Amino acid sequence: EADPVLGTSRGYCRPVTIANNKTQDCCLPEPKRPPIPFKLPTNPIMRVRRPAHELAQDVEYVNKYNLAYTRMKALPDDDPRSFLRQWHTHCSFCVEAFLSRYLNGTATPYPLQLHFSWTFLPWHRMLIYFHERILGSLIDDPEFALPFWNWDNQLDPTAGQVPQIFLPYPAGSAFNNPFLHEGKVRNTNHLPPKVLPLDYNAIDEAAGVVNTPEEIKDANLCMVWNMVYNKVSAQEFLGGKYNTSANLGAQGNVTVGESGGAESLHNTAHEWVGMMNNAQFPDNEDMGVFTYAGRDPIFYSHHANVDRLWDVWQTLPDKVTEDGTRTRKEFDDVDFLETEFTFYDENQDMVRVKVKDTLSSEKLGYTYQDMSAADRLWIDHKP
Ligand code: C2O
Repeated sequence: EADPVLGTSRGYCRPVTIANNKTQDCCLPEPKRPPIPFKLPTNPIMRVRRPAHELAQDVEYVNKYNLAYTRMKALPDDDPRSFLRQWHTHCSFCVEAFLSRYLNGTATPYPLQLHFSWTFLPWHRMLIYFHERILGSLIDDPEFALPFWNWDNQLDPTAGQVPQIFLPYPAGSAFNNPFLHEGKVRNTNHLPPKVLPLDYNAIDEAAGVVNTPEEIKDANLCMVWNMVYNKVSAQEFLGGKYNTSANLGAQGNVTVGESGGAESLHNTAHEWVGMMNNAQFPDNEDMGVFTYAGRDPIFYSHHANVDRLWDVWQTLPDKVTEDGTRTRKEFDDVDFLETEFTFYDENQDMVRVKVKDTLSSEKLGYTYQDMSAADRLWIDHKP
């Protein structure tokens, strides 16, 4: 039914002012056909996401991966499946470019912000779900699965490096590698053999603080706090409730609930891969800022690991405390379950997805290679 302000559209989008008074237009093309409701895939699990560091020398996989992204990058700009529009999908919903009233039915359309609340995990899950399906369809491979950047793995010292699959392979090797991040920005001080420290802080780094591999490993095992000890309940792990009244403020000043344990953990990898604290790159591009993060292919694999950690969290035991049992179970609030997002799918259709359909990766038809030996290191860590 038509909305008096939004008409029959799902909302509207505007260019946003980002840091340093620059304007960025991340608005997506309008759908050519009316949006369709999401349907869970009917086939059993077909896609198995594997860790990027184990795929580095898998010529067949790496060549598929590169071909899929090369085709995605070659699509015209008005095609919502194009790499540009995949980037813009993240950008438009994460810098309050998109106004809607689909969440909680408020009277005034408000800017959507998919971070800092219980929308963080479901929304990013579906972003990479459709991203992966588009990549697979571009190479006619219904089993194509994104690699995940297994940065929490302390068993294999290469896992926490920027994986080779996101870097140029040596010339003349068997890899058909177009170096997918050509011309874009990453922090070149953080290339292999450097390992992502989960307590990374750009200011300390600039001040000359250097940590030994043992210190990094120890700090990284401390993610046990985010995953096991402190972040048990839905509110603690997924994030606070989406609060639209807080969301009506000026663009760029939106406060939405609070980040959960998964989200705060994930920020570090963004900041470590992107340019922080560098006068030449005042916008912290690419990974260091929501606006540009989706331009770096590593972004989608970083989020695959965050998504995997959500699956792991679901399997961890509940916790009994003095004030009762904190259960590892998603929210059952109607506002959560009925929250709706729109994404473009592999057929260029706009799909309306409800959060209640996103809570099981198994039902979505994908799974992760079992990493429990590495997971156990931090799950059992006693800081
Ligand atoms: Cu929308 Cu990792 O950020």
